[in-house]
Amino acid sequence: MLLREKPIGIFDSGIGGLTVYRVLKEVLPRESFIYLGDTARLPYGTKSRRAVIKFSKENTEFLLKFGIKALVIACNTSSSFAIRELKSIYSSLPIIGVIEPSAKSALESSSGKSIGVIGTEATIRSGRYKEILKKGGAKVFSQPCPLFVPLVEEGWINHRVTELVAEEYIGWMRGKIDTLILGCTHYPVIKHVIRKVVGNEIKLIESGQAVASGLKTLLNEKKILREDGYGEDKFFVTDFLEKFSKVARIFLGREVKIEERKFSLC
Ligand code: DGL
Repeated sequence: MLLREKPIGIFDSGIGGLTVYRVLKEVLPRESFIYLGDTARLPYGTKSRRAVIKFSKENTEFLLKFGIKALVIACNTSSSFAIRELKSIYSSLPIIGVIEPSAKSALESSSGKSIGVIGTEATIRSGRYKEILKKGGAKVFSQPCPLFVPLVEEGWINHRVTELVAEEYIGWMRGKIDTLILGCTHYPVIKHVIRKVVGNEIKLIESGQAVASGLKTLLNEKKILREDGYGEDKFFVTDFLEKFSKVARIFLGREVKIEERKFSLC
């Protein structure tokens, strides 16, 4: 098989990376994707840097078995903590994370350079968004939202509890920002709830679009962009197959066949 016909690996701690996958598939329909949701070890956002690096390496090793030609880290927490390590270990593999493309896209679309960032505890603690945004001249307002990930995984997408939690976390940003980065790939699933809290005039930045154009450019540069045929995708989770299938169905609007792949948990 030619290198350009090989699949692209994509991983997240759970269902959140599907928000990135969905856009990647729209923009690059000819490509094949192998998706891994590490549901057994979710959430990553409350774990240490060391743990997130270990999990990210194991996810990459699993995806490499499919002969992937590129890797998308569809998780802000892994992108904050592990992208440098992954790039240095797998130096011949083109790797793209979600943080830089999303931060750049926020800087481009924010007219008043007042940018809010919400994410997991780990992502906010890493300070990666703040660093890039400040370099770009923006005033940054950050807020960890740790309860959002379990609410999304639970499928509480149109639920009054999710609305209350959102108001509690981000109500204070109203009037302070003109752009808000959804710095966790789970959050686009509840973006209607987030929008209700911050208001319609605020620009919401999701990782999917920014990563898709970054990935297309990368594949083009490496001359491995697939130009014909139609890709076939595979989905794996490390635990809770049924729950993932249910939320994936709601979220992608179609049935996907999901396989289970157990890792050792320690
Ligand atoms: N979706 C992931 C992110 O973008 C992580 C959620 C979690 O596992 O805590 O950060």
